[in-house]
Order: sequence, then structure tokens, then C-alpha cells
Amino acid sequence: MEFKITSGHLKNARTKAVISFMFKEQKKFSPEVEELDRITEGAVSQLKKELKFDGSEGKVLVVPTFGKGKTDFVVLIGAGSKKDFVLDKARRLGATAVRKMKELKVDRFLIDGESLAVKDSQPDVAQALTEGVILGNYRFDKYLSKKDKFKVKEVQIRVSRRFKNEAEKSSNTGKILARAQNFTRDLVNEPGNVINPQKLAEIAEELAKQYGFEVKIYDEEEIEKMGMNAYLAVARGSANPPRFIHITYRPKKSEKEVVLIGKGLTFDSGGLNIKPGDYMRWMKADKSGACAVLGIFKAIGELKPEGIVVHGIIAAAENMPDGKAYRPDDIIKAKNGVTIEIGNTDAEGRLTLADALSYASELKPDVIIDMATLTGACVVALGEYTAGVMGNNQRLIDEILDISEKTGEWMWQLPFNDMLREHIKAPHADVYNIGTTRYGGAITAGLFLEKFVDKKIPWVHIDIAGPAHNTRGWYYHPKGGTGFPVRTITTFLLKNSK
Ligand code: BES
Ligand code: ZN
Ligand code: ZN
Repeated sequence: MEFKITSGHLKNARTKAVISFMFKEQKKFSPEVEELDRITEGAVSQLKKELKFDGSEGKVLVVPTFGKGKTDFVVLIGAGSKKDFVLDKARRLGATAVRKMKELKVDRFLIDGESLAVKDSQPDVAQALTEGVILGNYRFDKYLSKKDKFKVKEVQIRVSRRFKNEAEKSSNTGKILARAQNFTRDLVNEPGNVINPQKLAEIAEELAKQYGFEVKIYDEEEIEKMGMNAYLAVARGSANPPRFIHITYRPKKSEKEVVLIGKGLTFDSGGLNIKPGDYMRWMKADKSGACAVLGIFKAIGELKPEGIVVHGIIAAAENMPDGKAYRPDDIIKAKNGVTIEIGNTDAEGRLTLADALSYASELKPDVIIDMATLTGACVVALGEYTAGVMGNNQRLIDEILDISEKTGEWMWQLPFNDMLREHIKAPHADVYNIGTTRYGGAITAGLFLEKFVDKKIPWVHIDIAGPAHNTRGWYYHPKGGTGFPVRTITTFLLKNSK
């Protein structure tokens, strides 16, 4: 799919369909659509009236031109109320547009970005539309014997002339971000029998080769030598051995160093505390944090931000029940010397992250960000569409939350408080891997992680158990992996580069 930014009149567009947006408050067509209405001898206004099209969000009016004018179709899409406009609407509507075009088998179309933009937002809108089209066009059809062969070939996005250069840049960034997000979605959607820890390491190596990253993969023996006993305990129950992945993007000059950590459970059965059937479904997606890290690397491999070194760390493992599996009541000494008593083998993610965070702290970076499908409790607290954000540095948390508002990747901060710290005290070790109350499970998990981070390093933990995958489809996401939070974290890296 190719993207082009244009700024000519809609009536002159060389494509098969032109798509314009209308807000609910809008009484009249824009001058551009007005002209199209004239050319089609009033077909647009007549159908609008007959089908009672009123600009409600996501409503689509398709007007065939029957040879009048240069395109086969004029399409109006409702943008809802103008005063409720948020940038993410442009993504949702970009997805609506591409899905409608696929239905009509239109492989070349133009989207009028100007009609959707408020004030100076045209470059941002062009980017969001680009992202929406690419994300909305995504499907995981690799294993279907009958695939839909239809492909969209060319998408033009129209902005007014004075925004053209800026929109070209931002749309290109959007294209890279959304494609990286789709790459993450592809990985998340692969099942456990295809992606195991070794395979995940191979994918990281391929990525490194493609973009020139440094990469080091540690096997079981080396992981043991590094003293990562918490991580190893989780991995022991599986026939698929663990792989510790460290990938690094290093531009010529570096002024800042960031470590990204992704939870990489290629499957989470719960271990000996085995999950009941319904809860075990979708646990192939327990590697979503790791897949997001790889997607972010794909994006920075293409965007090549300057002045920032980025490390990607994944302690990949599979959590299975077995004669060699770790047990409830086991006491394990983590890499940083902290002893952990196991309350539940299904709280495995934090054990793999514990050693990854210690390893990351030893790199002495300026920032550590971990993303993990860590707790069901976070989904209970915030719903399926919002990630929980915690950490030790309010400025860093605010920076991430701020960006997430623009990217439409919903995040909400959860409070670390001292009373909950009491609830991860273990009977016979320094820390328990579960909370001793039923409540605040997302926070007790975050507080557990805190024990493995060097206090001097600003750190943010993003619990993506809810939004990393979804079972229904939501806005521009089809069923399955969403690629959350690839765009937010990549944007963070771009903002912190030179
Ligand atoms: N991978 C799960 C968390 C999860 C739940 C992710 C739902 C995505 C959707 C995690 O390893 C887990 O099982 N956590 C337990 C922790 C409990 C045993 C303290 C949970 O949330 O129930
Ligand atoms: Zn688990
Ligand atoms: Zn898990």
C-alpha cells in the first residue's frame, strides 16, 4: 500500500473514490464537496437527505457517480461532534475508510484530511489517518487456506497546500509506526507451537541483521551463570528452553540510554497452579510485551533516531507444569540477591521481569521502561482497553501518559502506596510473588518489580494485560494482538532523541 500526500481540489483527484468527512454540527458541505455535488448533479445532497446521513461518527454514505466527475464514488463519513474531537478519531475513521473501500473493492482512493482537521492539526491528522488506514487494513490470515486476495494499492491523503511538507513527514512517520505495530500484532497472534523462546530469539536476530542492531542471545547455561534463578525457575517446567534476548540500537552519538523490557512468556499455562480452561485461552498473548519491544525496534530501525541508545531485553520462557516445574512454597534467590517465596506459580511474569530488571539496572541507563501482560487484576481495575502505569519517577510517568493521549493508547496511573508494600512481605523470604490480599493485584505486582530496580534509575512499568490483545475487535483493531504500546513508546524515544 502506497501513501501520497496531495493538496489539489477534490474534483480533480485521480483515483477511484474520494472520501470526505462531515461533523455533526456541520450544516453545509465544505466548498470542495459542494463542487462534487454540483458535478454529480446533486447526487450527494440527494442521497444524504434520503439516507438521513447526519455526520454521526462512523456513518458512511457512498454515492456512485455513474460517470459524472473523475471518480467512481464520492464517499462521506461522519466524524461525530466537532467539540468532542480527539486525534484518535482520525485513526478510527481512517480504519472505517479503508474497510469500506475493501468492501467496495476500491483499491485506490483519496481521503480528505483537511475536512477532518481542526485549526493547525492537519499534519497530525494526516499521520493519524495514515496509521488508521494501515491498522484498519490489518488481518492475520496467514493460516487461512482461503485468503481474501484483494489489496489496496494507493491511498492519497489531502491536506491544504501550506501543510503539505509537514504532512508528508508526519504521514511517513505514521506509516512506519503502524507497520511496526502490525509486525507486533503478527508476532502476538502466532500461537505457542510456532513461537517458543528459541523462535523469539531467532526473530530478534533476524531483526538485528536486517537493521544492523547488536544482539546477544543467552542460553540456559549462561542464564544460570548470570544468577537469574527467578527467571530460570519459571522456565524449568517447559520442554522449550529459555532464551534471554538483549538487542541494542546504537547510533553514532549517544547522549541518552533507554532500556525497554518486554514480558516474554510464549505461553502461560499457569504452571503447577494451572489455569482453568477459559483463563488459559489467549495465553499465547503473554508474550505481547516482548513482541511490542521487537516492534519498537523495527520502528527505530527505520526512523534511526539520533543521540539515543536503546536496549531491548526479553527474558523469554514458557510456563508449564512438569516434574521439573517450580512449586508453590519454593524459595528462590534472584540475580540481585533478593529472596523470593513462591505463593503461586501463575504469578510468573514478575519473576522473569525481576531478573531482567536487575540486568537492566546494571547497564546504568537513564530510563527503564517495562511492558508486560502482568496481571488479570489490572484488567479488572481498568477494563480491557486501558493499561496500568506505575513507576518510581512522576516526571517520566507524566511524559508517557502525555504521549499516550495523542497516540490513543489509553493508560492510567495506579498508585504505589506503603500499605500495599506490607502485602508482599513473605513468611520466609524477602518478598512474596503474590499479594497477601485479594485486592490491588496490579499494584502489588508493580511493587514486587520495584524491588529489582536500581532506585536511582527512573523506571516505568506498563501493565498491558488488558489492551495487548482483545477478543472482539475494537476501533482499528481486529480480534487478537493489538500491538499496544508500540506507537507510544516509539514516540517517547523520538521525543528523547536529538
Ligand atoms: N499472564 C497472566 C496475566 C494475564 C491475565 C494476562 C489475563 C492477560 C490476560 C499472569 O501471569 C497471571 O497469571 N497473573 C495472575 C497473578 C496471580 C496468580 C497473583 C493473575 O492475574 O491472576
Ligand atoms: Zn501467569
Ligand atoms: Zn503470565
